[in-house]
Amino acid sequence: MNMDQDIIDRIKKLEEKYQVIGQDLRSYLDGLLYADFLTYWDYIHLDTLLSLQSPRTNLPDESIFILYHQITELNFKLIILTQEEIANTDKPEVQFFTERINRLNRYFESLVHSFDIMIQGMEPEQFLKFRMSLLPGSGFQSAQFRIIEMNSTELINLVAHDKKAEMGGDVEKMIDNLYWKRGATELASGKKTLTLKLFEKKYHNKFIELGNDLKNKHLWAKYKNLSSEDQADPDLISAMKQFDVHANINWPLVHYKSAVKYLDKKPEEIKATGGTNWQKYLPPKNRKIVFFPDLWSEKELADWGKKPIEEYSFIPD
Ligand code: HEM
Repeated sequence: MNMDQDIIDRIKKLEEKYQVIGQDLRSYLDGLLYADFLTYWDYIHLDTLLSLQSPRTNLPDESIFILYHQITELNFKLIILTQEEIANTDKPEVQFFTERINRLNRYFESLVHSFDIMIQGMEPEQFLKFRMSLLPGSGFQSAQFRIIEMNSTELINLVAHDKKAEMGGDVEKMIDNLYWKRGATELASGKKTLTLKLFEKKYHNKFIELGNDLKNKHLWAKYKNLSSEDQADPDLISAMKQFDVHANINWPLVHYKSAVKYLDKKPEEIKATGGTNWQKYLPPKNRKIVFFPDLWSEKELADWGKKPIEEYSFIPD
């Protein structure tokens, strides 16, 4: 039989590859012979993906609401995958570090730019109806959003400001006092909303595990492990600051804008599904969460999120 030398060489290489691990090349060639061709729809599990929307009402805009939440969660997953890649790199080079933070920034930019799909893209009458069938579920219960925060910074930076001094580095205590728990707790009685109770029931242990696991692996720890020369790299600093602004000002602001659009109906504001005092809780200037406070001046920290929403250009220079 006449066979192309190039093909013979490849078969020899394959034989060597399988010999090393004690496998018989013939069986694998048979596998190739019988295997079906890969298709696009199978590869990305298209049918499953498109079947994951189960509206609770027959109002058409509810599907937009579900799909956009799912799109956001997929973007959150992209962010987490990149954060994990940095966390698992022993001694990241400064170029690699900067390039990966810029990836995070692109994922957030896409979320910030597309949020108008929520703000402009649903009929308020429909929204106010279908949201009642989602109670007490809320985006507040997005575990990936909380994981992105924990992957970014020291746990203490996510603790309610008036509780920081009492924490003494205790991970469980810090998890109990994360700033967002305050957002779903009645101040007077200290009672947690049902939304928070259900969220804790599912994720509390995972968050504690993660808090312990991440001590030397979150983005700030990785940054502090770089040489002082690398830490001073202007491109890296600017990428990290941009990430801080996207995660803690830009996205929270566009998200807040959607709550204002649908829930701020005078004379009386409409209650949030998660039961939070959303007017106080959602604006970034009130919560003042900053992942990398050492990279900002005192003035910048004091003014965190204070510019009116129209003055934030969501496009980085
Ligand atoms: C019309 C659209 C939206 C409105 C009116 C809205 C409203 C709210 C409100 C009022 C809260 C405060 C918690 C509560 O009491 O429920 C909240 C929290 C939250 N929502 Fe939304 N939301 C919208 C879209 C989204 C989307 C698309 C996502 C994407 C996953 C999302 C994710 C979140 C997250 C992560 C929180 C917690 C924020 C934090 O703790 O800083 N929301 N939302």
